[in-house]
Amino acid sequence: MRPWIVVPGERDSGIRDPSRSCAAYRFLCETAPVNAQATTLTGLSRQYIKLCDVADFDDPEILAMLREIEPGRPAEQERHRKLWEYALLGLYLAEVGAITPEATALSVAAGHEAPLYWLANQIERVVATDIYGEGAFSGREADGSMLTNPAAFAPYPYREDHLEVRDMNALELDFPDESFDIVFSLSSIEHFGIPQGTQRAAREMSRVLRPGGHLVITTECLVGNNPLDWPAVQVAMRVATRGRRCPTSTLRRRVTDVFTPKEIERYVVKATGLSLVQPLDLTISPATHESVLHWVEDGSELRAADGSQFPHILLQGHGAPWTSAFLAFRKS
Ligand SMILES: C[S@@+](CC[C@H](N)C(=O)[O-])C[C@H]1O[C@@H](n2cnc3c(N)ncnc32)[C@H](O)[C@@H]1O
Repeated sequence: MRPWIVVPGERDSGIRDPSRSCAAYRFLCETAPVNAQATTLTGLSRQYIKLCDVADFDDPEILAMLREIEPGRPAEQERHRKLWEYALLGLYLAEVGAITPEATALSVAAGHEAPLYWLANQIERVVATDIYGEGAFSGREADGSMLTNPAAFAPYPYREDHLEVRDMNALELDFPDESFDIVFSLSSIEHFGIPQGTQRAAREMSRVLRPGGHLVITTECLVGNNPLDWPAVQVAMRVATRGRRCPTSTLRRRVTDVFTPKEIERYVVKATGLSLVQPLDLTISPATHESVLHWVEDGSELRAADGSQFPHILLQGHGAPWTSAFLAFRKS
């Protein structure tokens, strides 16, 4: 049985964390699940199932792909975990041969993300779904006008008749079983309501995927163990401060929508009923740790100790930092 998670130093390739004695490493060792399975998709040219790391932005293939999907960013601002998610999605789908003129794709909680337009230029049909015009992201990623004028958000000309935008809750996808060759959801599943909403959406995404199809989910993963991230501690803080701190925390849900590695396993991976194509590599380089951005004052801004806002990779509020995790599955 293969391990579900690779902790630093356990494998022969890929980036390792040389600071094996750091708190983050101890946390990973203590929390790495041992009883889940990953089916490695053999022959992949890189470790896709991993956390975002500054070193990834030195990879010419990742840089080329992120520029292809979302061109025109100033060089400094390209070091952003959102663009890393786009680049890995593009590289992964291309490598596994999922991008064909006949292919169909569903994006769950799509907002107006650039990969929609990139895919529409290459495959038969892309369906973008979100609760457009509703919820915390309305007017931002989930701007209601996406339903009527997706071209207004396009980063470049695209084949408009290959992109369909629909108002749809991720918890109840209005498609028959096995409808799509590709299903993906970027930076969203943590916002559906942890844990039940997350689990339900993961099941739905898996349900509408065709056998042989590819599912990609990116989400937020805590890097380290800080008691301030424990829901019970946050509830105590809420009560002690009469709701001034951690106002939305409950005994099952922390104030920030982020997962521990164990929660990713329990609420996302297991709920899909599928296996990851590679074990999740939780390695984070020292350079990434040093680049952490902290919430400033009212939480509306993120800055590093030197005042910079990039690289935008590792973020920290009052507990441990977190970054993006890339997960991919193949339905057999
Ligand atoms: C951080 S945004 C990410 C948007 C887009 N995937 C991207 O990468 O730019 C999270 C998205 O999740 C959507 N969302 C939240 N709850 C949802 C639900 N129950 N069903 C569908 N979409 C939801 C929000 O409307 C928002 O567009």
